[in-house]
Amino acid sequence: MKDDSEKSEAAARPRVCIKGKKTKTSKTKGMKNISMNDDIKKPEAENVDMFLRADNRQFYGMTEKEESRYRRQFEFVCMGDPQFGMGDLSKEKEFSRLAVEFINKRKNRIKFVVICGDQTHNLEGWWSKGNVEDGRKKRLHELKAFKEVYSKLDRDIPLVCVCGNHDVGNKPNTTTIQMYKKQFGDDYFSFWCSGVKFIVLNSQIIQGLELSNELSVAHEKWADEEFESKHGDPVHTVAMCHIPPFCWDFEENETNFNWPIKKREMWLDKMLKAKVSKVYCSHYHRRAGGKYKGLEVVVTGAVGTHIRTKTVPKELKKSKLDAYNFKLSYEGFEGTETNEKTSGLMVVTVDKRGLSEEWMNIAQIKKEMISRK
Ligand SMILES: [Fe+2]
Repeated sequence: MKDDSEKSEAAARPRVCIKGKKTKTSKTKGMKNISMNDDIKKPEAENVDMFLRADNRQFYGMTEKEESRYRRQFEFVCMGDPQFGMGDLSKEKEFSRLAVEFINKRKNRIKFVVICGDQTHNLEGWWSKGNVEDGRKKRLHELKAFKEVYSKLDRDIPLVCVCGNHDVGNKPNTTTIQMYKKQFGDDYFSFWCSGVKFIVLNSQIIQGLELSNELSVAHEKWADEEFESKHGDPVHTVAMCHIPPFCWDFEENETNFNWPIKKREMWLDKMLKAKVSKVYCSHYHRRAGGKYKGLEVVVTGAVGTHIRTKTVPKELKKSKLDAYNFKLSYEGFEGTETNEKTSGLMVVTVDKRGLSEEWMNIAQIKKEMISRK
């Protein structure tokens, strides 16, 4: 059931006839929906690289000045971990290619796409057993493949890239961050879309570095200013990052898949104070999520290679927390697969009331595209 505000939002969506006449429905013969994004500045207008729109802690075409007004219901696509090179690269490329094709076909509804980190797998010697030369070569090859696939994204749909641990390292430093910035722009920034404020964090700084590290100090100072800003009066405030504060439960064990407990509490309390309603993340390569005092953490599955989890042993099922900790542990790891039934993306619908997610696996995406032909 749609309420009246939703009906009027739907009616307000831009629909035009390719011959120039207005029409009531997109199904009318000879008529075509135009993009939702005619109001968003195109990077070509000022020769901006589509992968480098995050600059000066803002995002080209989606600044507060340009997008602080709520217009209508919209969708965005949230993906995580394309991580080209983690598993079967040809399948990883194919899944991302299908995701791009699917998004382009929905351009009348989608305002932007966000990739929540780990665009590629290799980084210098980090995941190449210390062989820097080999890791560097692989990274460049994976970056080339990634950009070939994602450059096919419709030019009307901005691509927001969030940095992951495979992009800047588990313990980022100025060198790895500079390498990332050269490929994808800023590692943390904020942007606006139709009245909603999005704050993109560098979760590797939070997870991996001491609070006193100069990168941590600068990141936290910037985030505090964003959280405390009274500008713009957003309809919703949303955070995005790669590593989730927690995957299932605020009290779960500290692992590679979440933030250290003290930092977890400190940052989530900052977010609550700033009225952040959701945090979108990836990194776990499986879907997960939970709530902390009403603030929801949403963990998307991978669009690339998925991590399988073993069945929780009977004796651990008695306690929810024990079961979650098993799923986060090495004992719960059951290998990886690049499988169209377990990899996919999330379509997020945003309206004045809030944000809701629909998970679609690659098999469903393929099916939907066939039915539209
Ligand atoms: Fe990751």
